[in-house]
Amino acid sequence: MSTALVILAAGKGTRMNSDLPKVLHPIANAPMLHHAMRSGAPLEPERTVIVAGHGADAVAEAARAFDPNAEVVLQTEQLGTAHAVGQARTELIDFDGDVIVLFGDTPFIQPDTLQRMVAARETHDIVILGFEARDPGRYGRLVMSGAELDRIVEFKDASETERAITLCNSGLVTARANVLFDLVAETSNDNAAGEYYLTEIVEIARAKGLTATVVTCDEAETLGINSRAELAGADAIFQARARGDLMQSGVTLSAPDTVYLSMDTVIGRDAVIEPNVVFGPGVTVESGARIRAFSHLEGCHVSRGAIVGPYARLRPGAELDENTHIGNFVEIKNAQIAAGAKVNHLSYIGDASVGEATNIGAGTITCNYDGVMKHRTEIGARVFIGSNTMLVAPVSVGDEAMTATGTVVTRDVEPGALAVGRAKQDVKPGYARKLFKMLKARKAKRDEEQS
Ligand code: UD1
Ligand code: MG
Repeated sequence: MSTALVILAAGKGTRMNSDLPKVLHPIANAPMLHHAMRSGAPLEPERTVIVAGHGADAVAEAARAFDPNAEVVLQTEQLGTAHAVGQARTELIDFDGDVIVLFGDTPFIQPDTLQRMVAARETHDIVILGFEARDPGRYGRLVMSGAELDRIVEFKDASETERAITLCNSGLVTARANVLFDLVAETSNDNAAGEYYLTEIVEIARAKGLTATVVTCDEAETLGINSRAELAGADAIFQARARGDLMQSGVTLSAPDTVYLSMDTVIGRDAVIEPNVVFGPGVTVESGARIRAFSHLEGCHVSRGAIVGPYARLRPGAELDENTHIGNFVEIKNAQIAAGAKVNHLSYIGDASVGEATNIGAGTITCNYDGVMKHRTEIGARVFIGSNTMLVAPVSVGDEAMTATGTVVTRDVEPGALAVGRAKQDVKPGYARKLFKMLKARKAKRDEEQS
């Protein structure tokens, strides 16, 4: 049976107190919406429809960034969860499989849970995802007769006895597309909230002789985000899980609690991550690389055997080949560092390529920006760049060339050549002693005047 995801993401998220739509607030550097889309991805949905409302354009853009085939429908007024699902009907009019309704603000649903819901659909027309709540609070309550679900009652509409039920509704539903859309169309807003409740479909379905049941999951999976504090809590949960997964897959994290990961961070087996490393979006670290303490990486690729840091910064487009060394206070941006090359101290290498086994001396800067445009620096293989070399781009240094310490390179250097460009040194014998004597005398005079 093919599946379609309908992800509800129209709500404003008033309690976020933000101009940004709730589902675009990030967890591990990816919008909440991407996490919801990711939980559904292993089902290989044939269709994905996002129901957007507040900030719909931005939500649509984010949805397509995750999945270019995602479709977005607009719910102009937020009249309730059933009304929101109803907005996807026209889009899915030809779709004949199961629809799974997910919430855009519920990022931790596990793929296995969705698989179990899909499996339960074989025996029941409607499958609801429920959970045993430690504190059932304001969740909808699931009213069961044995294994059959009779109806869902929203907290606001529940009697005292119903409120005592601890089996709660996560909000997720699956049903055959036409069944779901027909039921949703029959819901009313005659209830305490004056909203079209998606939960009402269970009662309507049962009255028609259809069947409904509940699949349960751990409460932690159904966690929804409503405030900045909950967002931070969700990030912490994500981090703990992702660190655990990495260690399980053979990555050493010497102080896991201090490493910050992004949703898309990829780290190979036997890589070592020292304390206090931040992985921004788009980082891949291959097997056996070592990221030393206090480094910050984003949008970069680190190959096998490379050593980065401590205190290194890799920015988007940094490509480190095998066995490269990037040391302390070095920033690399949009630059390819070939195998065995070293940039060990206090350097900026941006919009550049550095050839194999080249050594870049301390304090070297690629001057890539002229105030208006960016320019490239090409450095060949087995080059020795002397400390404090300024490479004024666009410029190139050929294979096996050298630059003298302190050189400002403004013209291309041919292979094998030595570039020297600095003021000539003068040495004046005895001059330092004279100068010290003069300065000390001046200080003594001033001290006397002030006493
Ligand atoms: C819903 C369930 C409740 C369940 C709870 C779990 C209903 C009626 N109630 O309540 O049983 O225990 O989730 O968290 O479904 N949305 C839209 N358009 C709308 C309304 C909502 O897109 O018109 C989206 C929201 O942005 C949100 C999701 O649907 O992502 C859930 O809506 P919300 O208002 O949070 O429902 P709850 O009151 O939490
Ligand atoms: Mg909610």
